[in-house]
Amino acid sequence: MKMKAQDYPAENELISVNGVPFRHRDIFNVIDDFYTRIQLDPVLQVPFRSVGDWPEHIQRLTHFWWVRFGGKPYLFNHYNPVLKHFFAGFNRELLTRWLSIFHETLQTHLTPEQATLWKLVSERMGEGLSMKNELFRREYESRDQDIRTDSGTS
Ligand code: HEM
Repeated sequence: MKMKAQDYPAENELISVNGVPFRHRDIFNVIDDFYTRIQLDPVLQVPFRSVGDWPEHIQRLTHFWWVRFGGKPYLFNHYNPVLKHFFAGFNRELLTRWLSIFHETLQTHLTPEQATLWKLVSERMGEGLSMKNELFRREYESRDQDIRTDSGTS
């Protein structure tokens, strides 16, 4: 991941989502604290063992949300959430737990208006991820089946 220092947004730089303003610093504070909570959570710390470099993950996810909220990209980053989540064992139960910790973190750091908006966006994104995860599972399992069938007939 490469970043040009001059592209990094000032921590007070504002973006606005549906009329609700967010500073880059607001996003960073939420993400930083959220992943600290994740590392302390007995259930979610398990799938997150794949993260080798936490400061980098936090930076990457801060950027993800910044861009998602309409901010200018400042990292050369490519996200592949469907594949990563599938192999991390993403499921509804983990998602519910993830969202609950996320929403607590939002309330700690943001105004009620900001927290309500981000909560809604995260729930929608969770639904989207869930659906894509299910579709990917079907594709993955049917491919697995094809391989077994092929080897059985040859
Ligand atoms: C609304 C809910 C969620 C959102 C918006 C979200 C978002 C993301 C994003 C954008 C990434 C980065 C993907 C990339 O680097 O290409 C990521 C990584 C990851 N997420 Fe989630 N996630 C959610 C829920 C979950 C849940 C429930 C789990 C539990 C399994 C999870 C586990 C992970 C893991 C293990 C990584 C990969 C870390 C790594 O090794 O790089 N996420 N997530």
